[in-house]
Amino acid sequence: MNKNSQQKAAHVTTRRLYDMKQNGEKISVLTAYDYTMARILDRAGIDVILVGDSASNVFSGHNTTLPITVDEMIYHAKGVVRGVQAESSRAMVVVDLPFMSYQLSAEDALRNAGKIMKEHECDAVKMEGGRTIADTVRRITDAGIPVMGHLGLMPQSIYKYGSYKVRAEDPAEAEELLEDAVTLERSGAFAVVLEKIPAGLALEISRSLSIPTIGIGAGADCDGQVLVVNDILGLNREFHPRFVRQYADLNTIIEQAVRQYVDDVRSGGFPSVDESY
Ligand code: KIV
Repeated sequence: MNKNSQQKAAHVTTRRLYDMKQNGEKISVLTAYDYTMARILDRAGIDVILVGDSASNVFSGHNTTLPITVDEMIYHAKGVVRGVQAESSRAMVVVDLPFMSYQLSAEDALRNAGKIMKEHECDAVKMEGGRTIADTVRRITDAGIPVMGHLGLMPQSIYKYGSYKVRAEDPAEAEELLEDAVTLERSGAFAVVLEKIPAGLALEISRSLSIPTIGIGAGADCDGQVLVVNDILGLNREFHPRFVRQYADLNTIIEQAVRQYVDDVRSGGFPSVDESY
């Protein structure tokens, strides 16, 4: 077996995620939007990298995920895939289908999912919604494109909800959500993100599905966890929701480094003789 085939064997697949759930192994997922970050995440052993449409917020500074386009998602995804390939090629790369790229018709959705899969070597797409997109999920998975679902708080529908508060706290909405999750599995989805729902409901859904659930603000009993990489690294000063655990304060570290650089340039302390030709 040569080096490349060894690397391929280790690549995380939909089958591997399914087996992880059956074996009780938790699945780690983080977002990334560029080559450099994807390299670090893959090197650190992340199972899945999500090229999230949260790029619209954290990368481009929009208030919502709605403005990002298919071509912009492809731009981010290309860098991420190259980053994973430059390291161990282990992490699975899932790319969000952005707002209005799959809502018009199943044909339109398949065309956009196909474009995202064709223009770089990602592994799967992610879509928000339950029973309302079941036929579309079936159409895309029938074409051989793996689909990750996304239920609970669905940021592409933020204007419908009117707030980012916890979803499905009342029993009727919880019942609907469970039905949506079961329908997604039946329609061929290989995993479902559960965002900002009560932990007890996430546990019930996780037990009801044979495909993995990936939680964000959905408690410890999901089969995996996903967070936005900028949040765990402390890059955004203003955003501190309860479900984020911050593992570093890069905002402060970067600011200090830049201040030092500015001082050095202004004082003539940079570059030194050793840093010159
Ligand atoms: O776009 C995104 O980053 C996401 C995750 C927060 C699940 O959908």
